Amino acid sequence: MSVLLSIVYLIATVTFVVGLNKLGHPETAKNGNLIAAGGMGLAIVGTIFLHDLQVPTIIYVLIGLAILVGSILGYIIAIKVEMTKMPELVSLFNGFGGASAMLIGLVEFSKNADNTMQATTIVSGIIIGAITFSGSLIAWGKLNGSLKSVVKIPQYNSINNLFFLGVIVLAVYMIATGVHNPFLLYGLLAGGLIYGILFVLPIGGADMPVVISLLNSLTGIAAAITGVLYNNMVMLVGGILVGSAGIILTIVMCKAMNRTLASVIFGSFTVNNAAEGVNKALGTIKSTTASDTAIMMNYASNVIIVPGYGLAVAQAQHVIHELEQLLVKKGVNVKYAIHPVAGRMPGHMNVLLAESNVDYDLLIEMEDINPQFNNADVVLVVGANDVVNPAAHNDPSSPIYGMPILDVENAKHIVVNKRSMNAGYAGIENELFYNSKTSMLFGDAKAALTALVSELKNM
Ligand code: TAP
Repeated sequence: MSVLLSIVYLIATVTFVVGLNKLGHPETAKNGNLIAAGGMGLAIVGTIFLHDLQVPTIIYVLIGLAILVGSILGYIIAIKVEMTKMPELVSLFNGFGGASAMLIGLVEFSKNADNTMQATTIVSGIIIGAITFSGSLIAWGKLNGSLKSVVKIPQYNSINNLFFLGVIVLAVYMIATGVHNPFLLYGLLAGGLIYGILFVLPIGGADMPVVISLLNSLTGIAAAITGVLYNNMVMLVGGILVGSAGIILTIVMCKAMNRTLASVIFGSFTVNNAAEGVNKALGTIKSTTASDTAIMMNYASNVIIVPGYGLAVAQAQHVIHELEQLLVKKGVNVKYAIHPVAGRMPGHMNVLLAESNVDYDLLIEMEDINPQFNNADVVLVVGANDVVNPAAHNDPSSPIYGMPILDVENAKHIVVNKRSMNAGYAGIENELFYNSKTSMLFGDAKAALTALVSELKNM
């Protein structure tokens, strides 16, 4: 490798670390993303033009075409995707990363698996890449609703684990014997692909983001393995960063839902059927109007807003900011309560509210805001459901039992805005809506908040 290429890789590696660091805060995240993407672009250009190999021109043309097609497709998809659909997109991209590692392994196995170290690297890349590819496609299908089934077969996990063990035994045999048999190679590939499907298929809907994060981390590990194979430092570091960041995110999400990773992966059989809770008689509900809510808020000293998935669906982030500014002008103390898994991905609410320039200091994390609900005169819940469901504290039979929630029921008055009495993501009834302190403000979040703003302006 030329000295110049080493320098390019070093710069790229630094941009990955700096970019990742900046992703930790909404205000710097955009720049962080651009910096790391710039570094990746630099590494790609360097790899193509600064290597020491003799390459026919046609290869450059093919690489150029692949980059062009990939960039155009990536750009269109990224521009078009809605924030609420991001987990699906991440899942699909994970799958492509896994597929790349898998294909590289397939190509290299016949050429470069000469010693145990190389064979181990290549075979690991094929297995991890294949699991990530098929698992991510299943996850994508589950998230976009085209795959609904949660497999419930007795001893499913034992069968699954045995199958995985079979794949590992085959891999060890191939490495130990050095057999370059295409039949075994494609058997290994098929084993990895099938295990990816079997692994993700039984996992329940609410746990899918955790699985996607885990698959994301596997993609990183597959890339790092490829980096070892090619002795390519930038690929190795990039892969390790993705792998470790993915694992940390997985752990953070598990913690936010009070689940262990094992219970997410193997727990689908112990979880009660969420639909069982629906329509349970919990009492009566009280509905309210924008005008009554505006009066209540106008005379409040402390208001806490709880944003949820519905706020993102309605794209009501700008109007909620307007409401907040209006209340602040009237002397009301306003804060936002941010649950770590509100919405459909970690940090979803922070990113959404940052888009409408809500002051970041007003976004208060769950642990810090929970003790403050006692002092709140009004809590306005907008399109949030599971993250404010007291069943997480009160009902041991609930699928969300044990998940940390925002303790909005401790406030003096609670107004919940949603369109209907339909359940949230976990598919369960919410006893908060039947609380004597709760009023339901039915309607689309944007329309309801716009009406609220206009009522408040007239006061
Ligand atoms: P949800 O529990 O999904 O509730 C959202 C509510 O928004 C629904 O009940 C829905 O009721 C309402 N809604 C939908 N569209 C609306 C609109 N246009 N206007 C007003 N309301 C609307 O959301 P949440 O409280 O944010 O909880 C998130 C859930 O997703 C948790 O279960 C969490 O575990 C899970 N999850 C989290 C993540 C991460 S990592 N953040 C990822 C995936 C899933 P109506 O239909 O009646 O309007």
